[in-house]
Amino acid sequence: MTQLQVIHPTRSRFQSSDGAYQHLSLTPINGALGAEIRGVDLRNARNPELIAEISMALSRHKVVVFREQTLDPKNLVQLGSQFGPLHHNPFVKGLDGYPEVIEIRSEENHEKQFTGLWHSDISWAHSPSMGSLLYAVELPECGGDTLFANMAQAFSALSPGMQNLLQPLRAEHRVDRHHNAKSDFAELPEDAVYHPVVTTHPETSEKILFVNEYFTTRFENMSEQESLPILRYLFDHSTRPDFTCRIQWQPGTLIFWDNRSTTHYATNDYPGQKRLMHRVTIAGQAPK
Ligand code: SIN
Repeated sequence: MTQLQVIHPTRSRFQSSDGAYQHLSLTPINGALGAEIRGVDLRNARNPELIAEISMALSRHKVVVFREQTLDPKNLVQLGSQFGPLHHNPFVKGLDGYPEVIEIRSEENHEKQFTGLWHSDISWAHSPSMGSLLYAVELPECGGDTLFANMAQAFSALSPGMQNLLQPLRAEHRVDRHHNAKSDFAELPEDAVYHPVVTTHPETSEKILFVNEYFTTRFENMSEQESLPILRYLFDHSTRPDFTCRIQWQPGTLIFWDNRSTTHYATNDYPGQKRLMHRVTIAGQAPK
């Protein structure tokens, strides 16, 4: 993780105003989270100062959107690697020659991938992801938007009583909770994966609600039946419109999101049409 330490903004830079950006121009998407960044060609994004500014924007806005990019799988790997080591997903085969790049593909007669349930990518791993970069390769005529939820806002809007109840808890996250994680080349993890229900973001120090309906099954030392009423409440609470933004894809759009502080939801509203995306996922550390 040395690379991350070098490129991430220091606390004082994070606290500086938007005027701190020298290499990009940024417009917030709404009051909850997300920002559009302009003036950057991501194919040539090698300047460490630019990478540090994108990292700063990601910490502050949690989701950053770049339009009109042209990125082949090699470019995507090069870009993602600037933000940290890339994760190899043992349950999804990557592209030939670029195993770190996974296809998110939806079309007729093909299982829809990762749609219809809010989640944080690979929260089922002992060390979940720091962030994901998703690039639009082929889009339906209309539909296929992605929604994001600000899990720091969701936590801070809970009552002090609920916050205190959740702080000491850990929750189980399972890859096979909702999707068929069968694979020719990986076995399901044998030991259960538990993460704190409330985590502290390593860069912003915000308290984050770290549960999601795709992968979180139950609280540690409790049954699913016992856990579900509170988990269901948290899933619904955290995805209230007030805490979310919705992003419409265009050809050439790339979205970079922070998996430590957001969950996301891919809509499934384009029956019979194709949607193909390429994703790289940046490795992270066990949340604390
Ligand atoms: C994902 O969950 O990483 C995919 C999101 C999307 O397809 O919009």
